[in-house]
Amino acid sequence: DQIVAFHGDHQAGIATPAQDRLHFAAFDIVTDTRADLVALLREWTAAAAAMTSGLAVGAGVAGRQQAPPDDTGEAEGLAAGRLTLTFAVGPSLFTTADGVDRFGLAGRRPRALVDLPPFPGEALEPARCGGDLAVQACSDDPQVAVHAIRNLARIGRGTVAVRWSQLGFGRTASTSSTQITPRNLLGFKDGTNNLHVEQPARLDEHVWVAAADDGPAASWMVGGSYLVARRIRMLTEQWDRTPLAEQEATFGRTKVSGAPLGRTGEFEPVDLARRDADGEPVIPANAHIRLAAPETNGGQALLRRGYSFTDGSDGLGHLDAGLFFLAYQRDPRTQFIPIQRRLAGADALNEYIRHTGSAIFAVPPGVTTSAGDHWARLLF
Ligand code: HEM
Repeated sequence: DQIVAFHGDHQAGIATPAQDRLHFAAFDIVTDTRADLVALLREWTAAAAAMTSGLAVGAGVAGRQQAPPDDTGEAEGLAAGRLTLTFAVGPSLFTTADGVDRFGLAGRRPRALVDLPPFPGEALEPARCGGDLAVQACSDDPQVAVHAIRNLARIGRGTVAVRWSQLGFGRTASTSSTQITPRNLLGFKDGTNNLHVEQPARLDEHVWVAAADDGPAASWMVGGSYLVARRIRMLTEQWDRTPLAEQEATFGRTKVSGAPLGRTGEFEPVDLARRDADGEPVIPANAHIRLAAPETNGGQALLRRGYSFTDGSDGLGHLDAGLFFLAYQRDPRTQFIPIQRRLAGADALNEYIRHTGSAIFAVPPGVTTSAGDHWARLLF
């Protein structure tokens, strides 16, 4: 069980029980030639199929003495650790910010692949935003995830360049009911009410793109999904000075057990209507779980698959740490965007977080085992 199948109707790494470690990379395409891009996707797909099966790229490190080896070698002898590589394309693949259609793909851009609107309170750093392409590498072994991204970047030299990347050291969401809910860096259990991989009907409803979703131009996305990535810094110093009762009120959950306020079990249902003896809502009006709940958002839900990060310190005596939020969904126009608007406006958590990076991607369906299939083949 070190190996997660690479081929299938959907790409692995979405409805796969979340692995422990992440290396995520966004790429800029540096060629104007469509054929170069397609050739790269073929090569990437072959390398990804090999690495996710625990094999080295190409001939591995045992090549000719006169040339650099096909594989950089640092994963030699390591198990795959359930490595998954999930490929995605950004809006700028279709049309650049100044409206240029570089690869003749503008007509194939799904309507759901919108540019994210600005949200109140965000402090986005352009160098941590966007990307023409992206790859999410998840593994239980950080060296395996880093090796995979490094080798894809190396194969892509001359065709793509890394735009930004993010390491994640601990999953912040359980995506399977077989997993114990992990804690984020604010110390709260995260993923209790997440969509879980054991709920195929809910995944069909909220995660996978269906045939009728977005018209014939976007038929290449059927079986795929949309990914929103947000690098969210946590102001941990501020949080750590906040009394426990206020921390719990911020989320609407109990810190130790993860239970909804007023309950004792982590998985007890959240009852947003419940009031205390004074008539006050038990889950406060500005609590994160109230504002994010499907009940508050017309039934919409997200598959959250984020990771904790610490990227050193900011030079001002604070840790640069937080949550690299990754959410998969069927349509960001009805899921991430309205939910984030509601959160950005009123969430009690806003006092302790800053969104510093942002990107949106279309995640094509899975690669089949038929010869010649590759990532996003139906788009080309
Ligand atoms: C629930 C933490 C940002 C959407 C939760 C829970 C925690 C949490 C502790 C409760 C446990 C659970 O059900 O998973 C955080 C932290 C964030 C963050 C620390 C930022 C650093 C976001 C963002 C969104 C979001 C940006 C979406 C725009 C949700 C949703 C739920 C949730 C949909 C489930 C609500 C429910 O159905 O009960 N989050 N979250 N969160 N969060 Fe967040």
